[in-house]
Amino acid sequence: MRRSDWLFLLLLVVTVAGVAGALYFSETETERGRRLEATGTETGTALVGGAFNLVDQDGIAVTENDLTGRWTLIYFGYTFCPDVCPVTLTNMAAAIEALGTAGNRVVPMFMTVDPKRDTVESLKEYSVHFHPRTRFLTGSEEEIDRATKAFRVYRAIRAEGGRAEGARAEADNENYLVDHTSILYLMGPDGKFVTSFSHATSVAEMTDRLRRLL
Ligand code: NI
Repeated sequence: MRRSDWLFLLLLVVTVAGVAGALYFSETETERGRRLEATGTETGTALVGGAFNLVDQDGIAVTENDLTGRWTLIYFGYTFCPDVCPVTLTNMAAAIEALGTAGNRVVPMFMTVDPKRDTVESLKEYSVHFHPRTRFLTGSEEEIDRATKAFRVYRAIRAEGGRAEGARAEADNENYLVDHTSILYLMGPDGKFVTSFSHATSVAEMTDRLRRLL
């Protein structure tokens, strides 16, 4: 091989290693999200969604009945999430905006997986950064448990050192991370599951798929 070929090969190896490393260290949300996305699609409509009784950032009650009569794009996360959640909420807002008037038919929703820290007040503060129509939901630990289970969303407080404890486990401090399914569900006007997107779905793809469904 010529010297330039070797250099090319070296560059290729470094690039591949870099990409593999980045993928390996990316949030556990990634894998769980994909796995759940697959499950959600395969199992169909009946197994995603169910009864819930929560409140939004204005203290207004929100139940499964609020899902009927309009399209809902619902994401599950928490306000302390360092990157994946804010990026996904930003993408969701961008896709709804890109849809133009059709976007008005979609209600963006966020359901916390961390009700202990995500109070009505903190959700109110958080909400100003995202789509103005987004309803940010929280509730008691029991209600969030019921709701996330209904939507087949996994959540667990990540203890120091990376070991996940049960969601109800008391964290030592207020700086814990929460492992959670990172998924967006599109629910139809009948309140039933239609399709899902992952946090890795691009704004362009989300917009395109939504435009064909709405
Ligand atoms: Ni997150």
